[in-house]
Amino acid sequence: MRDILPRLDDEFAFQTSGRFDLLADEHVAYVTLGAPDVDGELRRSIDRGEGVITVVGRMGSGKSSLIAAVANSLDEGFLPLRVSVIGVEAGDPAAFARHAIAETRDIPDAQLTRHESQALDRATADRRTQTTTRELRAGFEIAAGNVLTAKVVGDVKRAAGEELERATDPSLVLRGMQRLLNVFWDIKRCPVMLVEDTDHWGGSPEVADAFFDQTARAFAAMDAVMVVATQSDYTRLDGYQRVRDRLTAEISLPQLPDVERGLDTVLTRRMRSAGIHAPLQDVLDQQGLQLLSQSYIESTDDGHAGDLRRTLAVMRAALDIALSEPTASPSPSRPLRS
Ligand SMILES: Nc1ncnc2c1ncn2[C@@H]1O[C@H](COP(=O)(O)OP(=O)(O)O)[C@@H](O)[C@H]1O
Ligand SMILES: [Mg+2]
Repeated sequence: MRDILPRLDDEFAFQTSGRFDLLADEHVAYVTLGAPDVDGELRRSIDRGEGVITVVGRMGSGKSSLIAAVANSLDEGFLPLRVSVIGVEAGDPAAFARHAIAETRDIPDAQLTRHESQALDRATADRRTQTTTRELRAGFEIAAGNVLTAKVVGDVKRAAGEELERATDPSLVLRGMQRLLNVFWDIKRCPVMLVEDTDHWGGSPEVADAFFDQTARAFAAMDAVMVVATQSDYTRLDGYQRVRDRLTAEISLPQLPDVERGLDTVLTRRMRSAGIHAPLQDVLDQQGLQLLSQSYIESTDDGHAGDLRRTLAVMRAALDIALSEPTASPSPSRPLRS
């Protein structure tokens, strides 16, 4: 056991990264955790090919993790596009659309094609389980195979650049945004905009309020899918309440039903990613797991998911403490001196 601990530390096994592209690898599907299938729910909602979907949970509960994992698993008919809300007036639909167009223009080519190539690789690997006929999805037949060639990527980015030049008047920007989205549909790719860094609105609820009331409303009417990571608190804002019935889906992250089992699975997955194939019991005893579960449960609210980021931080702290302890083996009791 002792030699596992430094390795877990060296490999940052319980580290929580801020990097969206790394989250999918660590993600454990909710059904595997014994919880309702929110992964499937999000996937099916995206499959509808329209509207705004919110993924709701407290900070650290796993919104980005779910969005990253599901976006990754979509087939090549979908094109996930991350749109950041940092440094943009997200509550102003025209400003947000302008920013989304600019991000599309500036996105590195490799990033634009990555999803397609990964999805195609997966499809080849899964050939046995895949039907050969493409089903009708979201009202169009997806083009099988590699579509995002260098030429097409160039065309998409050129279109974005042109829309940006044309979009001098705010009233024209939203139409430009839709024309750009149509470019994706023309190549038979459903654009899926991912808005997942909304924690930045933490100190400014008025931005969140306006984002839902104005921007999400405008995008709900566009021909695209938008997935928005939404802190539970935001759902109480008037702007959110007003747009709620326009949402394609609102997906709330559930509490882990069996917390000890769930945490065991999440932590074991991380140990495995760190190359350590050992059961959790080798590093955390039953009492430790109980304490960890307790800290997760304290952060849950009314059946909603707790703070996994903090739970992982507790695990890291425990690891630090264990590592700083003197490595002495359980001390043989000293002979009593009278
Ligand atoms: N289903 C899950 N399986 C494994 N790890 C998860 C899962 N959900 C969340 N995590 C981990 O918990 C931490 C917090 O999740 P994150 O998605 O960043 O939360 P949020 O976006 O809600 O603030 C991350 O380190 C992430 O890897
Ligand atoms: Mg997040």
